[in-house]
Amino acid sequence: MTKYPEGRQASAIIPLLWRAQEQEGWLTRPAIEHVSEMLGLAYIRGLEVATFYFMFQLQPVGSVAHIQICGTTTCMICGAEDLVSVCQEKIAKNPHELSADGKFSWEEVECLGACANAPMAQIGKDYYEDLTADKLVELLDDLAAGKVPTPGPQAGRFAAEPASGLTSLKEYDSGKTQYNASAQLAVDIGDTVKRIDGTEVPLLMPWQGKGANKDAAPKKAKASVKRDPMLSPEGPDGKQGGRTAGEKAAPRQVGASSDGRSEAPGQGKDAEAAAKPSVGSVAPKKADPSVKAQSGTAADDGETPVGKKPKMMKAPRKSGADDLKMIKGVGPKLENMLNGMGVFHFDQIAKWGEAEVAWADSNLKGFKGRVSRDNWVDQATKLAAGEETAFAAKARTDGRYKGDA
Ligand code: FES
Repeated sequence: MTKYPEGRQASAIIPLLWRAQEQEGWLTRPAIEHVSEMLGLAYIRGLEVATFYFMFQLQPVGSVAHIQICGTTTCMICGAEDLVSVCQEKIAKNPHELSADGKFSWEEVECLGACANAPMAQIGKDYYEDLTADKLVELLDDLAAGKVPTPGPQAGRFAAEPASGLTSLKEYDSGKTQYNASAQLAVDIGDTVKRIDGTEVPLLMPWQGKGANKDAAPKKAKASVKRDPMLSPEGPDGKQGGRTAGEKAAPRQVGASSDGRSEAPGQGKDAEAAAKPSVGSVAPKKADPSVKAQSGTAADDGETPVGKKPKMMKAPRKSGADDLKMIKGVGPKLENMLNGMGVFHFDQIAKWGEAEVAWADSNLKGFKGRVSRDNWVDQATKLAAGEETAFAAKARTDGRYKGDA
């Protein structure tokens, strides 16, 4: 995440989902939600990415390895169907089905971009190329025996040179490493089918806690999400609906979240540990008019408003806006939306009656029902009185998320 400029952390969605997948071999719903929260994205955004790419597994896979056989043209005419037959015989009849011992699963996928070394398969994060049925049997037996076969070409080639040997660039010194760069890296790192526990790389979120408008959901971040084709509903190539051929079923295990639940910290039991804003006030924040324009309200969409619109403020008091993220159910995005509407302080929310709650519940686009679901009024009443809620206390002691303070 630190590779991306502030406000562009959403670009880390694929590597983060991949890291999460490396823990158990597949992406659970809590994992997708947690990653989304880390990046200040609505859960549905994370789910869109997870369901678009076949690199992400949405149901349990073999405990040792999930074998992805490329079945696209080049690999197909070079023997991919034989490889699929091996998988059906040695693993399970159907793709995404676990082997009897639970160690393996397989699927056919689309071109993995190693056509010059067809047919090939991806196992874990590495490529096994120039495969034959016999070679794949051997690889599976090795994996079952606890070995990790060397990735790369399996028929003696160094990389993707002609099978009959080099015809040009003969002076090229290919002997710098034992294997080609990709295979050498895989061998050096040695984590082809390894599961990780998430502690290998320290979690850094340096953009958080740097100021009122620089947390996970500033205006810029919204803009980047909009522009990032990776995160658009159409996917990076503009195709609507995600997967192409070789497609996987809809996210059976994940259970798509259709209500576009947000990045809000503390949503769900696994999310408690995600974003923990600290107690306290922040520098005055001006309402960002673009927020409303981007976020919209039910009224903006021409829907009949329900309830009574709460009293709004044009700007926070001089003492500074309260950190609304201290309210369980409010994340950076929602806080920005509230500020855009004129809600800056706990005591504003504390004064909401039934009618105001109904109005807010129906007007927070993408977060409808959130106010009553998480009982914001009770939380805000305590926070306005200087008391702590369990959520706020936990957030305050968490060092990873420092809120806007
Ligand atoms: Fe198999 Fe391209 S067709 S890698």
